[in-house]
This record gives sequence, structure tokens and C-alpha cells, in this order.
Amino acid sequence: MGMTRPRLVCQLAALLVFVLTGAVSAQAPARFGIGRPATPQEIARLDIDVMPDGTGLPPGRGTPAEGAAIYASKCAACHGKTGREGPNDVLVGREPREGFPFAQNPRLAHTIGNYWPYATTVFDYVRRAMPPMAPGSLTDDEVYALTAFLLNANELVANDAVVDRSTLPAVKMPAREHFVPDTRDQTARKPRP
Ligand code: HEC
Repeated sequence: MGMTRPRLVCQLAALLVFVLTGAVSAQAPARFGIGRPATPQEIARLDIDVMPDGTGLPPGRGTPAEGAAIYASKCAACHGKTGREGPNDVLVGREPREGFPFAQNPRLAHTIGNYWPYATTVFDYVRRAMPPMAPGSLTDDEVYALTAFLLNANELVANDAVVDRSTLPAVKMPAREHFVPDTRDQTARKPRP
């Protein structure tokens, strides 16, 4: 089958674009002279990741009692008075205590107490994402207190627990063993179709 004319034109056009963009990018200046380097303060505001082992946790502390008051005013409207009622995500509950039957029963509520593998992630998530209309508005002490409150409501820390950067990573979550790190070689993975 011979090459049709429109197809040849397309291929020539593509070749021209390739050559031209190559020429342009070869001459691109090292800097474009726009913008400015981010300040250390600006980077610090965004660089807030907390790792599962607690790396990245800031100074500060909080207790369940302190967290209960903040929860009532800033969280209960969406997550329910005790964290079980909704209307948004259920945060509290240990059932089912045995096994991990979430795949068999998709109606089970995933909570911090039955599903989250790391306590440190509660701090990270609440600090970066909650409340949704003002993420980043909570102080680190408030986030520690809310984390203490949520872990206590899930029967994972005592009523008088002090949650801070040293105690939080030590909290063992019930779902911890149900998650494994993905150690597959990223480069060996097949691209998605
Ligand atoms: C305006 C409603 C609203 C308020 C207020 C709110 N949340 Fe949420 N929250 C949500 C929604 C919606 C989600 C689910 C977000 C998603 O899946 O992307 C969520 C998710 C969460 C989760 C993750 C649940 C899970 O298991 O995946 C946590 C933890 C959480 N919120 C804590 C809090 C805390 C603590 C506060 C108070 C500081 C708060 N939320 C305030 C609506 C709210």
C-alpha cells in the first residue's frame, strides 16, 4: 500500500516541528529571568511531610481532653459528636476487631482504629487537610491534641496520654500488620495501558 498524500504531509509537518523545537530548545537560556527563588520560610510552610516513623514531626504536644474541645468546635459538625455519626468519614470505631475483612465487606466503615496503619499519619493528614475549608489553620499543638483525642476515642492511647513527637510514633495501630511496603522496582513496572 502506497503512502497517501495527507499522511505524507502530516509526517513532514511533524518532522519540521521536531527540528524547530530542537533548535529552539538548544538556544534556550539557562534562566528566563522570571520569578524568584522560594524563601526558606515559604518552603518550610509546604515542607510538612511526616513519615511513618515520625520523622518530620514538629515540637508541640496535646492531650485527649484538649483535643475534645477543639474537636467539638471544629470537627464534630462533619464527623459527628463522637466521630462515629458522620455525615462525613467515620473516624472512630474498632469493629471488626478480628481479621481484616474489608475486601469481603465493602460496607464496613474504615476508621482510624480499624484501618490506619500508622498513628503518625493522623497528625500529618489532619495538619495538611483538615478542616477542609481552612487546611493549615490549626497550630501544631492543636493537631497533637486532636490526634490524641482521636487515638483515645479509638482506644489506642490512655485518657491522660500526652501525644508529642516522641510518643506518637510508638503508638501501635491495630491495622499495622495488614499493610506492607511496596518494594517492587518502579522502573520494572509495566506502564498503564
Ligand atoms: C466541612 C466538613 C469537615 C470538617 C469541618 C472536618 N472534616 Fe475531616 N473530613 C471531611 C471530609 C469530606 C473527609 C474526606 C476527605 C477525602 O476523602 O478526601 C474528611 C476526612 C477526614 C479524615 C480522614 C478519614 C479517613 O479515614 O480517611 C480525618 C482523620 C479527618 N477528616 C479529621 C478531621 C478533623 C480532626 C477535623 C477538625 C479539625 C475535621 N476533620 C474537620 C470533612 C470535614
